Amino acid sequence: MNTEQFLVKSQLKKVDTASFTWQTPSNIALVKYWGKSNPQIPKNASISFTLNNCHTITTVDFVRKQHSKLDSESQKVVAFNLFFEGKQKDEFKPKIADFFDRIQAYCPYIIEYEMTINSENSFPHSSGIASSASGLSAIAMCLMSLEKELSAELSTEFIHKKASFLARLGSGSASRSIEGPLVVWGKHPEIEGSSDLFGVQFPHKVHAVFENYQDVILLVDKGEKQVSSTVGHKLMHEHPYAENRFKQANENLGKMSKILQEGNTKDFINLVESEALTLHAMMMTSNPYFILMKPNTLEIINKIWEYRAAENSAICFTLDAGANVHVLFPEREKKKVNKFIKKELSGYCDNNQYIYDSVGFGAKRILK
Ligand code: PMV
Repeated sequence: MNTEQFLVKSQLKKVDTASFTWQTPSNIALVKYWGKSNPQIPKNASISFTLNNCHTITTVDFVRKQHSKLDSESQKVVAFNLFFEGKQKDEFKPKIADFFDRIQAYCPYIIEYEMTINSENSFPHSSGIASSASGLSAIAMCLMSLEKELSAELSTEFIHKKASFLARLGSGSASRSIEGPLVVWGKHPEIEGSSDLFGVQFPHKVHAVFENYQDVILLVDKGEKQVSSTVGHKLMHEHPYAENRFKQANENLGKMSKILQEGNTKDFINLVESEALTLHAMMMTSNPYFILMKPNTLEIINKIWEYRAAENSAICFTLDAGANVHVLFPEREKKKVNKFIKKELSGYCDNNQYIYDSVGFGAKRILK
């Protein structure tokens, strides 16, 4: 695997201070990634819609360490402070410290700086929406902005590729949170340029029906998940159905590619819902087994099925590793479906909370 391309080879400039702010999105997988090998290599390819409204905004301030510090032991330690929504968050530090350790070989310059990371999410705190994808991709983009300032010309294409590569080392699905509207991560014979190391934009022309696709996220359970996705991925190692699942997911990605190009919403619904339920079936058949859906998750799914049949709608659902339900539908149905959600589904949500979102286009630099 060609990780060599991400090493810094040129002589770096000396920059004393720098500050960059990036807004990066969350994403929702249509064909799911569940199961990996070291270092964060997916067992199958996955594809996701990039979201528009659910995002993280992160500023990283870089201050070059004093020369005396650079010569001493502290040279080997990545120095950073972390603030989330204005408050120092030392409990988030171990995950980010691990991330910096994993990327150090590719970003050797981080050791020369003291970094202050300030992060905030657009979605409510502890809403059960995974913030690791948007959170890690935002830090990755800030690092790449610094790298661009330190080294000779870097193309935007390379910056996106390396940011996705770095983000992946923090959280697999974060590799799909740099670009949009559709990103594939994982080597797949039908997706040119695809790689296990980074996400790539879906390379084919997408049918108009999937443009500006809507995603309303129903917040069913905002509590802490009983089983983290790190543990869930690990349980796929001994899983009796793992090999078939990886094969099926890769086949499904091939089917999804065709569906997205041809615009067949019936096939889309079938595949997306099957992927969501298969992901949760893998959880339920792990050893130890676990269930992340809640009774209201199932109530909502049934209501969606009733509505679809009665209204001849193209509405469908998907799930990530939690109880929340993502309701997907074409833009042309927006008015009617939003009414249905408010009237029939919001009552199943924690505090009646849900988030309107739609497909988005990826990371944005914010100039301060
Ligand atoms: O990126 P991780 O390690 O949090 O795994 C996320 C996996 C799912 O969200 C369940 C599926 C996916 O492809 O995003």
